[in-house]
Amino acid sequence: MRDMLLKDKVVIVTGAASGIGAAVAHRYASSGARVAVVDINKVGAEKVRKNLVNNESHRTFYCDLAEPSQCSAVVADVLEWAGRVDVLVNSAAYLERKQIDDVDVDFMNRTVAINMTGPFFLARACAKIMKSQGWGRIILFSSQGAYTGGYNGSAVYAMTKAGIIALVKSLAREYAADGITVNSVAPAGANTQMLHGGMSPEDVADFIDKIPMGRLAQPEEIAEACEFLASDRAGYITGHTLDVNGGMLMR
Ligand SMILES: NC(=O)c1ccc[n+]([C@@H]2O[C@H](COP(=O)([O-])OP(=O)(O)OC[C@H]3O[C@@H](n4cnc5c(N)ncnc54)[C@H](O)[C@@H]3O)[C@@H](O)[C@H]2O)c1
Repeated sequence: MRDMLLKDKVVIVTGAASGIGAAVAHRYASSGARVAVVDINKVGAEKVRKNLVNNESHRTFYCDLAEPSQCSAVVADVLEWAGRVDVLVNSAAYLERKQIDDVDVDFMNRTVAINMTGPFFLARACAKIMKSQGWGRIILFSSQGAYTGGYNGSAVYAMTKAGIIALVKSLAREYAADGITVNSVAPAGANTQMLHGGMSPEDVADFIDKIPMGRLAQPEEIAEACEFLASDRAGYITGHTLDVNGGMLMR
């Protein structure tokens, strides 16, 4: 039997209706946590919640990360529900593939709002609570694209994911003395809607050809890294971006 690394922790997982966020919600619930299943897709989030271990211990919350006020509000709602907030995993993100010449200001603003501004305000709101508790874990999501500039029409997305790497360093330094660690995870190709949406099967096959392990990650494999980073075992790791990429990019 596995150790219950997150026993009784209250965790917020955004983007939990789908893909990696859903896998993190499952892994954390199995590890003993109470999960706030957060997404803009409340129906999808509720479906995930119902299938979690001990499903009555968890709760679904709506939040559109494009709205900073909703980011602070959802953290306050979780605090009211569970009385504490121990871990934040921000898996939600927006990727629409657009060539650079087709990018307009609205598209730029929406991508930046969801992928950078939202995580900033979520993390800050959580850190305020974690500080008063003297313990916390903040895990954001970067991407291999942060290092490479992205793949096939993902320039703006890649730019925001590079911003996350700087953000975790700033937050990590600021909150280190408060018992809060801040890290991010950088997948390359994970088998989710985000990867397959906007890529032809030929593009996906070409992408997989470049992965030394010869396959995409399963969302559960990314969730394992998130469980480790949220646990006491990772207590001295902060400001780090962890590549979980099958060897596709070795930095
Ligand atoms: N899948 C990959 O290959 C890959 C590669 C690199 C990085 N990542 C990163 O991993 C994380 C998870 O990606 P995924 O593949 O699971 O994606 P996904 O598309 O399966 O899930 C994304 C979730 O975010 C939610 N979401 C989107 N906009 C939102 C908003 N405005 N407010 C709240 N929720 C919103 C969606 O409803 C969805 O449930 C993302 O941060 C992504 O950038 C994924």
